[in-house]
Amino acid sequence: MHAPCKSIVVKLGGSLITEKDKPYTIAWDRLSRAARIIGTYYRRYAEEGLRLVVVHGGGSYGHYAVHEARQKVVIDQLDVARIQLVMNELAIKVARSLIEEKVPVTIIPGHALCPKRKGRCNLSLLIENVVRGMVPLTYGDGIYNEGVVIISGDDLAILAASAINADCLVFVSNVPGVLDEDGVVIPHVSSPNQVPDLTGTSNRVDLTGGMKAKVEKALSFSRDYEDTRIFIVDLEGLEKLLRGERAGTLLSSPSD
Ligand SMILES: Nc1ncnc2c1ncn2[C@@H]1O[C@H](COP(=O)(O)OP(=O)(O)OP(=O)(O)O)[C@@H](O)[C@H]1O
Ligand SMILES: [Mg+2]
Repeated sequence: MHAPCKSIVVKLGGSLITEKDKPYTIAWDRLSRAARIIGTYYRRYAEEGLRLVVVHGGGSYGHYAVHEARQKVVIDQLDVARIQLVMNELAIKVARSLIEEKVPVTIIPGHALCPKRKGRCNLSLLIENVVRGMVPLTYGDGIYNEGVVIISGDDLAILAASAINADCLVFVSNVPGVLDEDGVVIPHVSSPNQVPDLTGTSNRVDLTGGMKAKVEKALSFSRDYEDTRIFIVDLEGLEKLLRGERAGTLLSSPSD
C-alpha cells in the first residue's frame, strides 16, 4: 500500500502532550503513544521517501512561561531566554520519545526559524534537513522584540506544510476534532463560524487563541494550498488517518 500521506506535517498540540491545566506537567502516556504512532508510520514509509516534519505546541510549558513573564512590568531578554529554555526542555522530551521509536529527529527551535518576528520566518534550515532524510522537530517559541513575541506552533506547522509541499497537515489535540455545541465532532469545517467556544472555565492558560484561531489560520492556508488536506484529530484519529482511514475534522475552504 502507498503511504496515505507522502509529505506530512504533524503538529502535536500542547493540549495533547502536556496537562494543560497543570504547569510544567507532561502527559507521558499520550506523548509515548503519539511517538509510537508516528514511529510506526515513519519506519513503514521512510524508504519510499516519506517527508515528515513534527511540530509541537507550548501546552503547560510555553503558555505558562509566557504568562508568568507577563506578570512583570517590563519583560527583558533574560525572561525570553527562560521561556526559550522551558520550551527547549519540552522539545528534548518529545525528541527523546521519537528517537526511541527510531525517528531521526533533529530539533530546530522555533526562534531559530523566526528570529526577527512572526511573519518573517526562514524555513531553509528545515527544508535542508528534510532533503537529507532527517525529521525536523520544531515548536512554538518566544523571541525578544521589546518584550516577548510568541511564535505559535500552529503557525509553524502551517509554514512547514507550505515549505515541504505537504499533502497532509494534521493537528493532533486532546479532542477528536472540532466539536459542535453538543460535543459531537463536525466532520467538515469550512468556516471559523462553525466553531463554538467550548473552552469553559478551567485553569488552563492559553495565549494563542485555542481551537478557533487554529481553524481560522488553517482555513486561510487552505485557500492557497488546495492540495494539502488538513485535519484536526486526537491520537486515535491520527492512527486512523495514517492507516488511510477517515477521521476527525477535515478543514477546507468552500470552493468558489
Ligand atoms: N468547538 C471546539 N471544538 C474542539 N475543541 C474546542 C472547541 N472550543 C474550544 N475547544 C478547546 O480547544 C482546545 C484545543 O486548543 P488548544 O490551543 O488548547 O490546544 P493545542 O493547540 O493542542 O495546544 P497548544 O496551543 O498548547 O499547542 C481543546 O482542548 C478544547 O478544550
Ligand atoms: Mg493551541
